[in-house]
Amino acid sequence: MLKKRDLSIDSEMKNNMLPDLDRSLRIAIDGPAGAGKSTVAREVARRLNVKYLDTGAMYRAVTLKLLQKGIAPSALPQIERILQQTVLEVKNGQKVFLDGVDVSDEIRQPYVNNLVSQVAAIPLVRSMMVKMQQAIAANSSGIVMDGRDIASRVMPNADYKFFLAAALPERARRRRKEQLERGLELSLESVIAEITERDRIDSQRSDSPLVVDPEAIVIDTTAMSFEAVVERILEIVRAGPNIPLQ
Ligand code: DC
Repeated sequence: MLKKRDLSIDSEMKNNMLPDLDRSLRIAIDGPAGAGKSTVAREVARRLNVKYLDTGAMYRAVTLKLLQKGIAPSALPQIERILQQTVLEVKNGQKVFLDGVDVSDEIRQPYVNNLVSQVAAIPLVRSMMVKMQQAIAANSSGIVMDGRDIASRVMPNADYKFFLAAALPERARRRRKEQLERGLELSLESVIAEITERDRIDSQRSDSPLVVDPEAIVIDTTAMSFEAVVERILEIVRAGPNIPLQ
């Protein structure tokens, strides 16, 4: 099992802005691939001076480990064994280390993209990741977490739940741009095919599928700028009845 002590919980983004809260601020941001969750969530956390956690990066790291070891997503006993011997650390919310090695760039490669939804559908993997994510939240004095099941499973009691949606061509355009910035040139058609398949697996899996939580505020970001989405979220958080932000 990945152990609690294996988690490296950074202390850099201590919450200084919310000193009077009787409990910490928890914000869940879910949505499909390419809806802009990670960039928006990171900026919202930065502006609120709370911790950020990219949970997709954790499923990506597990996928990379299985690829490195040549283990298929169907080989459950082997997966359990290998994960018991793995140290997965998340630093600064999004820097991911596998057995001490920084794999933050490698987990964004197409070979990881193509397998990650299958790995994330495995209940054993999900329960391990959810435990780690809940431990990270419990150890923080405020957190913004993005993923697929944050509102429904990881932080069902979050103070704010957002679901970022966007039309498929726009999501594919954004993902393609991100890949180009990493030096990878992919056709728009191949990116559309990849995220359509990931959305299908993520939405149809039996264990905590991608769903719009009934309490979530849905923001369609198709025609919105990054800054406008961040502002919209901050506006809602600042207007919140129980969260006396300065
Ligand atoms: O957000 P992302 O593209 O980095 O996520 C990678 C995969 O991980 C995605 O296909 C679904 C899965 N995932 C998940 O099942 N639950 C989460 N909380 C986050 C990601």
